[in-house]
Amino acid sequence: MINFDEKRKSFHLKNNCISYIFYIMKNGHLGHAYYGESIEDDVSLENLVRERGCVLAPCPFKDNMNFSLDIMSQEYPCNGTGDFRDAAFSIRDEEGSTITNFKYHSHTIKEGKEILEGLPSTFATKDESMQLEVCLYDDVLDCKIYLSYTIFKDISAIVRSARFVNGQKQNLFLEKALSLSFDLFDSDYKMLTLDGAWSRERHLHEREIREGQTSIESKRGASSIFTNPFFALKKEHTTEHIGDIYGVSLIYSGNFKAVAEVNAYDSTRVNIGINPYDFEWKLEKNESFITPEAICVYSPLGVNGMSQNFHKLFKKHLMKSKYSNQIRPILINNWEATYFDFTEDKILQLAKGAKDLGIELFVLDDGWFGQRNIDTKSLGDWDVNFDKLPSGIEGLAKKITDMGLKFGLWFEPEMVNEDSNLFREHEDFVIGTPNRSRSYGRNQFVLDFANKKVVDYIFEKMSKILDCGYISYIKWDMNRNITEQNSQTLDKERKKEFFHRYILGVYDLYERLTKKYPDILFESCASGGGRFDPGMLYYAPQAWCSDDTDAIERLEIQYGTSIVYPVSSMGSHVSASPNHQIRRSTSLKMRGDVAAFGTFGYELDITKMSNDELNEIKEQIIAYKKYRETIQLGTFYRLLKGKYNRYAFMSVSESKDKFVLGIFKTLCKPNPGLKKIKLKGLDENAHYKCNENNKIYGAKELMNFGFMLETEFTGLVQSKDYKGTLTAGEDIGDFTSCLLTFNKI
Ligand code: GLA
Repeated sequence: MINFDEKRKSFHLKNNCISYIFYIMKNGHLGHAYYGESIEDDVSLENLVRERGCVLAPCPFKDNMNFSLDIMSQEYPCNGTGDFRDAAFSIRDEEGSTITNFKYHSHTIKEGKEILEGLPSTFATKDESMQLEVCLYDDVLDCKIYLSYTIFKDISAIVRSARFVNGQKQNLFLEKALSLSFDLFDSDYKMLTLDGAWSRERHLHEREIREGQTSIESKRGASSIFTNPFFALKKEHTTEHIGDIYGVSLIYSGNFKAVAEVNAYDSTRVNIGINPYDFEWKLEKNESFITPEAICVYSPLGVNGMSQNFHKLFKKHLMKSKYSNQIRPILINNWEATYFDFTEDKILQLAKGAKDLGIELFVLDDGWFGQRNIDTKSLGDWDVNFDKLPSGIEGLAKKITDMGLKFGLWFEPEMVNEDSNLFREHEDFVIGTPNRSRSYGRNQFVLDFANKKVVDYIFEKMSKILDCGYISYIKWDMNRNITEQNSQTLDKERKKEFFHRYILGVYDLYERLTKKYPDILFESCASGGGRFDPGMLYYAPQAWCSDDTDAIERLEIQYGTSIVYPVSSMGSHVSASPNHQIRRSTSLKMRGDVAAFGTFGYELDITKMSNDELNEIKEQIIAYKKYRETIQLGTFYRLLKGKYNRYAFMSVSESKDKFVLGIFKTLCKPNPGLKKIKLKGLDENAHYKCNENNKIYGAKELMNFGFMLETEFTGLVQSKDYKGTLTAGEDIGDFTSCLLTFNKI
């Protein structure tokens, strides 16, 4: 999969889907040649690259002005040697100079993929992947950069990272160290990003890129609720299912920056990595620094093609939990049922009811520790509140386990309330800058995870609870961003290492807990989706998508999330109606059908529901258990977004013997035309039977003509109540949905 051509000095990373080609330029730097659909092994480099200068452009050679770094495509560009676009890194030496000139030194190619020390990273066996490491050297600095490239079998992705190794000469200061950089030949792209805010995370946006920089970033100490660490560049006519698209993402949960920079020569530089804002890393002699990994997916099959490659890569080569390729338990979480106001009896009632409904896991959310009956108290005091839970966590968990349910527990390990024993005893554990007050956020402060002592302390406290052996799930929350960033443990030359060290501390705790408790299923959460990123997925194979559990808003959130993240990673629950976040009322059916495209669960007070509602939930659960494997482990397709006021998703099982189709209507229109949706990804020689209407359809018919939707309001229909079944042949009113399951015959 990786070939070095001695004569042309070029590297060709290739599998069935993609080719990625770069070469050693005559000044010793690396030049980018091609990234796209797989091409010939003996491709002519002379056709892919051409030296290019300009009368005003700087050039490293006295007698060849036809070679300018400012114009030619590069792979990991240096600072100050003739390229005026953004460099991939910046190193300051002891004299204060940031000019660098890294040249090819050597390279190694090996089977398999090494994981990164201390950072989440992709993994793969020798049969599944190959890794190339190119060493660049700057002799003035005596510093090396090792660029790592991994290509996987059957996946349209390249994974990259960079390792800086200082030599013997002097201390160096890394001011910027991105994970990936390359230049696309052209610039006629539209950028897709996933942005939002609390309760409306990861909405898909599209914008033009033009001359200059178009960027997204986070400076909050987390990948953030506002912009996900991802963007894609697609061609003007690229659609959901056809056309060229490049998607980049970062396996990192802290501050990031991603930039598309178009120059005057119509080429586009793609950069992604740790945000250089408030970042600097001191490299003493012989010390090294490794960047997080970045992923670049190319697909000729449109946005959906890109998404499927991200999903495949994450499920196979990133999510390390034993649950990553298993069906997930149906859970009930008590948060929206009780908030802080619960007793042991109430929890047991909920659990008993849940068991009767067929639910498999009970999750006790915030409020079980210290004096935590309100969000101003006790964060950080991870000792059970025996007044509220007289049997303790161990006793309660045992009782629930004895009912035949699994038991899960909420933690917010990185946080502390001012009104807590931890704050009173260990103010030195809290992030803050001397002589300055701390900003408040959700009445809490952030613990200094850049300080190993703090991580050790929290690990011990959590272990004490988890050692009881009855806990099979953890919801790891994180409800505010970092301000007054500083660790008292860092000396003044290392103050700007804080943000990165913080997130390394978070990873350290995750690493220790997931190693010690490999059977616990972790779900990450950050006020909903404030840290929904590939870094978290490495440890926690699912993430709470959003605090907004309204089915209609969730359609937009889950649609956007699926652009990068697999359905099996999306925590999605059925909650009460009217919904607690936006007071919208929707049917139990609609709420269930939307939550079905995720790790299904419930988050409402089932003890207050009518028998009819409980029976409906029971049916929902019986049905979901039949098709969850197809949804969670199958191949996911987005079919509609907003068109006809509808969303539609489908998941096809790996062997294509089953599929599930979900169609969701938001607002209805009077007397509209008939509508159909073309399905995707079926076995084209097969016929499929729909289990809900017993009709048989040809796969080609479904993929070429499409699936006809139900007739809407025609004026002829008497006011019958829409029951949510398709057999009535009528789809009347706002907020309706149907979930259909098909089997190959
Ligand atoms: C955050 C989470 C919620 C819930 C609360 C508890 O907001 O996103 O799901 O756990 O914290 O305080």
